[in-house]
Amino acid sequence: MSGTDFIPISVATLLPTEAVGLDLYQKEDASDRLVLYRGAKFPISIDDLDRLRGRGIHRLYISKEARATYQKYLRKIATTSEPGAIPVAARTTALNEVVRDVLHLAFSKDDVDQTVNAAEQLGVLAADIVTKDEFAASDLFDVLHHDYATFTHSANVALYCGILGAELGYPREGIERITTGGLLHDLGKLEIDEDLLCKPSRLTDVEFRKIRMHPLVGFRKLAMREDLTEGQLMMAYQHHERLDGKGYPVGLKAEDIHPWAKVCAVVDVFEALTSHRPYRTPMPREKALSLQQRDGGTAFDPEILECWTSIIQRDLVN
Ligand SMILES: [Fe+2]
Repeated sequence: MSGTDFIPISVATLLPTEAVGLDLYQKEDASDRLVLYRGAKFPISIDDLDRLRGRGIHRLYISKEARATYQKYLRKIATTSEPGAIPVAARTTALNEVVRDVLHLAFSKDDVDQTVNAAEQLGVLAADIVTKDEFAASDLFDVLHHDYATFTHSANVALYCGILGAELGYPREGIERITTGGLLHDLGKLEIDEDLLCKPSRLTDVEFRKIRMHPLVGFRKLAMREDLTEGQLMMAYQHHERLDGKGYPVGLKAEDIHPWAKVCAVVDVFEALTSHRPYRTPMPREKALSLQQRDGGTAFDPEILECWTSIIQRDLVN
């Protein structure tokens, strides 16, 4: 069977308590051929999951037609309101998959209404999970995708914004809104050709200018909406500004940059450093943090950076 008719799913989203009701496939050893692993009628057990992990298998496959059913299953896990029914780590994994899927679809349609509505709903869901006592950022980091797609980057930045907002003591509504803002912060990039965003070689001056326009483009797309707050708009507009005034698109100084844009700036760069780029492999988290420390007070707000560092270091130690 050819792999092009199938999509990968994370084994971490499969729960023995919730039947997916889909045929699951696996790759035959050392080939791209897919073979049936488990028929839809046969539930997966805890032992099955342990065995898969033991064999180093973290992805199974479902047919493309089954995508909607799988997404429904993920939403059920991510939105469960029964306390303790589903471990937070599984909910986090499911939520991340839902966020990526919804964002990918909304971004590819370039429909601002649909994107904002989806981002608002996802912000509420994400805030619910990142504020749980059992939530650990390290669980999240391990299940996130770290590729270069704008929707992946936006999904990761959004969840990081929510975690950092929670740690900074924002109220629940603030956490929801800053997460939504994170999902929308790079909306202006959708106007830039994918080839340019992924260009591995040095950019020309014209290309560089084009990329540096994306905060303004994103802000313009969102500015007239009454359902977004000033903080959310400023996340789109100011997330590449620096405290020392050497950022873009305006070159604002520290006091003129919105606090949420400062939060977004810290996690945006962290996400970029720890993800794949066309020209390099992901940087380990410790290295990314130490690189960012050098820019504390010049590019990044030192207190916000300190708070982010403590979240990541706490999880690296545990
Ligand atoms: Fe950006």
